[in-house]
Amino acid sequence: MMQETVTIADVNAAITASRKISRDVSVITFECPEIALAARPGNFVNIKVNASTQPLLRRPFSIHDVRGTSIDIMAKTIGIGTTILADSPCSAAMQVLGPLGNSFDCSDPSLETALLVSGGIGAAPMLFLEKKLTGMGTACINYLGGRTSEDLLQENLSNCRIATDDGSAGFRGTVVDLLANDITTLKSKGNLKVFACGPNPMLKAVAVFCRTHAIPCELSLESVMGCGIGICYGCSVEVRTPDGGIGTILLCREGPVIDGERLVL
Ligand SMILES: Cc1cc2nc3c(=O)[nH]c(=O)nc-3n(C[C@H](O)[C@H](O)[C@H](O)COP(=O)(O)OP(=O)(O)OC[C@H]3O[C@@H](n4cnc5c(N)ncnc54)[C@H](O)[C@@H]3O)c2cc1C
Ligand code: FES
Repeated sequence: MMQETVTIADVNAAITASRKISRDVSVITFECPEIALAARPGNFVNIKVNASTQPLLRRPFSIHDVRGTSIDIMAKTIGIGTTILADSPCSAAMQVLGPLGNSFDCSDPSLETALLVSGGIGAAPMLFLEKKLTGMGTACINYLGGRTSEDLLQENLSNCRIATDDGSAGFRGTVVDLLANDITTLKSKGNLKVFACGPNPMLKAVAVFCRTHAIPCELSLESVMGCGIGICYGCSVEVRTPDGGIGTILLCREGPVIDGERLVL
């Protein structure tokens, strides 16, 4: 993961497009040049969805894509903040803080094939990441998992391998089962690295898989977040330390991306 010093902007950004891509997921575009120009794959933004105290706190979202001076987020509706977000019309404006957190490390020149592994809404950061990696000449394979076909969010991603728990699309099983199924083919594709985002049980299984097969991996984690900038201590998560012990990090500053070796299993 890359920990760069970037200028964080807090801008009143207009929604310029909003569309539903599944029953409960929307892609929302904000015009915010300051954030778009500084953003790196893996970064997130913290959004105040309205001016009221309901909800009081901002809500964090991965940067899904950057197009010129705009950013897209891909948001799954699960509660009050995401409902307001999905229902907001074009031209509504929201306070958007970012880019926040560290980013995926795409800088290894020996990397030949990147495996972008996601579960459900964990696909959100993968489009921006794929664009960056392919722009650098790295081959990408997207591995997407969901409980059913309705959970799959492969829009605009290329070279997709699909797994569903119920077998309603692609391979029947978890996305990590599919990786294990493909391992012989994958090992013929040169130096590999896994970039993963999704629910915690999936990330743990990805970390175990990568440790077993000695594949480097980076994981984008989630936690409850308040400020997004290291002030409220609301996002503290446990990680493994190099001496085998347990330490804590603030995920909004030292994450959301961590090396797979640091994940506590
Ligand atoms: C770094 C980061 C990046 C994220 N990126 C995305 C993204 O790209 N797209 C996206 O849709 N979501 C993303 N999330 C999750 C998103 O922030 C939450 O879904 C959102 O804050 C929920 O707000 P709400 O007001 O709708 O839900 P609330 O009304 O606050 O909560 C509704 C229910 O969801 C639970 N909940 C709240 N937050 C989370 C969470 N982070 N994980 C699991 N359960 C939660 C609550 O406990 C409650 O049960 C990200 C989270 C983090 C920390
Ligand atoms: S969200 Fe406040 S310290 Fe991380």
